[in-house]
Parts: sequence; C-alpha cells; structure tokens
Amino acid sequence: MIDPQDYNEFSRFLSECCGLVLGSNRQYLVSSRLSRLLSEFSFASVEELLRALRSPTQTKLKSRVIDAMTTNETSWFRDTYPFEMLHHIILPQLAATKRSLRIWSAAASTGQEPYSIAMVLNEYASTNPLKAPSANIIATDLSESALAEARSGLYDGLSIVRGLSQERRNRFFTTVANGHQIKPEIQRQVRFQKLNLLDSYAALGKFDIVFCRNVLIYFSAETKRQVFDGIARQMESGGYFFIGASESAGPYTKAFEVERTPRGSVLRRI
Ligand SMILES: C[S@@+](CC[C@H](N)C(=O)[O-])C[C@H]1O[C@@H](n2cnc3c(N)ncnc32)[C@H](O)[C@@H]1O
Repeated sequence: MIDPQDYNEFSRFLSECCGLVLGSNRQYLVSSRLSRLLSEFSFASVEELLRALRSPTQTKLKSRVIDAMTTNETSWFRDTYPFEMLHHIILPQLAATKRSLRIWSAAASTGQEPYSIAMVLNEYASTNPLKAPSANIIATDLSESALAEARSGLYDGLSIVRGLSQERRNRFFTTVANGHQIKPEIQRQVRFQKLNLLDSYAALGKFDIVFCRNVLIYFSAETKRQVFDGIARQMESGGYFFIGASESAGPYTKAFEVERTPRGSVLRRI
C-alpha cells in the first residue's frame, strides 16, 4: 500500500502535469495502475518513482506514468447522437455557407472518435456529392501510447466491435492478419498530434466543430473553467461543441449556449 504522504505527492504531480484529480482513497487505483511500471523500471516503491520523477530529465518516465494513469476508454460512434446530429443537422447547415471545415477531436484517445467523425463525413459526401464541404480533422491527446494506436489505424477483434456496425466495418476497414486496418481514405482525413489540455491551443487555429468528451470529468472545477475558455477562444462564432453526455458547461463558462434538437443537444459558441 502507498504511504499517505507519497499518495498526496503523487496526486499533486498528476494534477499539475495533466489536470487529473485523484481525490481521496484512490490508493488502490494508483497501486494497481503503477505496479507494472514499478517492476519494469525496478522501483521498489512509489516513493522511489516520485524521487525519479523530480528529475527534469525524466520526460520518458513522466510520459509512461501519464499513460498508466489516464483512462483511455472509448468506442466507435460513442453515444450515437453526436454523429447523427453531425450528419443530419450540422453538416447540412454548415455546407450551406462553407466549402471547407475544421474539426477538432480533443482527448481523442485511441482514435475511435475522430475516425467516426471522418466516416460520417464520408457518408454525408456519398449522399450529397455536390454539397459536401471538405474537412480537416485534428485529433489530439496527451497519452503517447493512445496516439500511437490511433495513428496506426489498426484495431483488434475486441475494439472493432464496440459501436461499429457490420456495414461500416465492411466499408471502412480491411481485415488483415493482426486485426482490422482502417482504410486510407478515412485515415488521411485525420491528423493526430500530442497536446495537453492544460497548455495553450492558440497554434491550432479556429474550428467549426469541437468534440471534447469524457475527459473534463477527471478535472477540477478550476481546470474545467480554463479548458472551456481555451476551447471557446479556438472556435468560430456559431461553432458546434460536443461535451460528454454526463458533462455540463453551464457552471464553468458563459461562452456557449445549449441548442436542443429532436436528436440531442449541442453547445453553440456565442
Ligand atoms: C476516456 S478518454 C475519452 C475519449 C473520447 N473523447 C471518448 O469520449 O470516447 C479520455 C482521454 O483524455 C486524455 N487526457 C487526459 N488528460 C488529458 C490532458 N490533460 N490533455 C489531453 N488529453 C488528456 C486521456 O489520455 C484519454 O485518452
């Protein structure tokens, strides 16, 4: 079990480097997530790991600890309604005035979210060949292992079935010896980039549509405020913003208003 002082120091480290708030009594979670890493790096305890993390040269170790502690849970077309709204409400509306769109999947994990967006764009273009705008999708995450999997576009038998219909699997993937490889026309629409949501996003430019789902729940109220403000600055007026189904923006920002539609709700940049 972790010493209470080490637990507090480790919690502080996580919150400062990536915003994750552990809360109290999560010693078991920390021990179980770090156990493999401790033996791989031959640390006898979390105290020894913390000592190594204090050294500014340990960027690789720091990144491995973040990989171990972040929750990368995701699935294809997660929650369904954002993708239905994208196809049936948002793309028709934006296509009336724009020829090209910029879309950001923040906290994209292993790629299912941005690739699902790319599939919707492809499906919309097939049924609306003259109207469909072109689109650039930028997908960011802090976890290097999640980004590596996302960039590879290769998914195993377990992850491919989570949320993906047989029809979409046939259309957008090729079955290869070690899994299912996303087709190049979908893969090349998405550019993956490492980005910590605690840092500045100014270099990313402005977006018409942003997805930042199921990550804000792990942050403190102050970090949520900062992230909402930072994302708001990177959005075009009237732009569409999806947060997770269990998340809300109201207590943290006045930059968005909720638009309710029969298919679900989305935030609009004021
Ligand atoms: C639960 S996944 C959500 C994936 C996807 N958005 C979805 O809803 O299915 C949360 C992701 O947030 C990432 N994350 C956690 N803290 C972050 C930070 N400070 N900056 C960027 N990404 C972060 C994790 O690496 C993880 O991949």
